[in-house]
Amino acid sequence: PGAGAVGGLAGKRVFIRVDFNVPFDKKTGEITDDARIREAIPTIKLAMEAGAKVVLASHLGRPKPGKRDLSLVPVGGRLAELTGYEVHVPEELVGDAPKKVIYDLRPGQLCLLENLRFDEGEEKDDENFAKQLAELADVYVNDAFGAVHRAHASVHALPRLMRERAAGLLLLKELRALGRLTTRPEKPYVAVLGGAKVSDKIDVVEALLGVVDTLCIGGAMANTFLAAQGKDTKKSRIEEDKLPLARTILSKAENRGVQILLPTDVIVATSLDAEAGSAVAADAIPDGAMALDIGPKTVALFGEPIRKAKTIFWNGPMGLFETPAFSKGTFELARIMSKASGFTVVGGGDSASAVKLAGEEVAKGFKHISTGGGASLELIEGRKLPGVEALRSAEGVE
Ligand code: 3PG
Repeated sequence: PGAGAVGGLAGKRVFIRVDFNVPFDKKTGEITDDARIREAIPTIKLAMEAGAKVVLASHLGRPKPGKRDLSLVPVGGRLAELTGYEVHVPEELVGDAPKKVIYDLRPGQLCLLENLRFDEGEEKDDENFAKQLAELADVYVNDAFGAVHRAHASVHALPRLMRERAAGLLLLKELRALGRLTTRPEKPYVAVLGGAKVSDKIDVVEALLGVVDTLCIGGAMANTFLAAQGKDTKKSRIEEDKLPLARTILSKAENRGVQILLPTDVIVATSLDAEAGSAVAADAIPDGAMALDIGPKTVALFGEPIRKAKTIFWNGPMGLFETPAFSKGTFELARIMSKASGFTVVGGGDSASAVKLAGEEVAKGFKHISTGGGASLELIEGRKLPGVEALRSAEGVE
């Protein structure tokens, strides 16, 4: 059931698992992208306006065991700025301290628990930790799409203990949008994959080969495919041990009638911090140079099926887009996708950041920008998501 389906929230303690695992500047501590906070607001508002006592919980990064160095206090500050709510963050995750804070909540105030990963029970999906969290609430809502692929206590063990549990509005929106890519997607279907490593994307490539018409591959992972075709990629980053796998993928695609498009030209430079690169044919990379972005001809090549597609899925940048000299391929392709008439979805992580960096106009053109990186890939792979499964069935609960 969705959050809207949970009736009579007034006065109830509603635990909302959100994914506030936001990127921040390591030096200044500044939050660099607050999309995950903004996207959680509709569910938070829904519960607040229904008169619930709202308890938010999230992880942030991967704190070292026994260290409390990744506090959610700054995230609470941003949430307060965005909503006008007063955000209280108890020192302790479970026990009397949060219970008292929650008991004392007045209208317009909410409780944000500290980083769930401060307790080692979280990542262990520990039943005892889940029971202590369960004591803080009457109703459980999961709105943490970005974390539903993790079988962790707040995502998996906890909802199974709660009689009243629901999916939040963001989780529902994500499942609906990404569901359109897995359940009878409208054809033609074009997927664009990029990023550094083939090894991170093997399962998603396998799954996509069964459903897409065209697969465009860019980013450093394309170098491994170019090398697998016998091209001399010179100093470019490749995964030597994945060459046989890349060959298998290419021949599988051919057998299944899936068109794989690889870069025909690339932007090269001799160092990662070069001020500018030059476009060369993918089979004519000069000695000592490496491919760091896709070239203009490749943008046009990938753009053609994208314009005609009814469904488009994008995950992973086309190059080193954080460096201006190597960002053009990623941004140009983002622009083409944003103007395409098909159902365009971008998976979270780097590609979602790239879309935002490309500008508001570009971001607005996408039909869906997922807040989940790993979660959206696992969904596309057709895997069961522990957080979603736990909402569907809870032992001992109807
Ligand atoms: C994400 O950013 O993908 C989610 O918040 C999950 O974080 P994790 O990879 O540290 O479990």
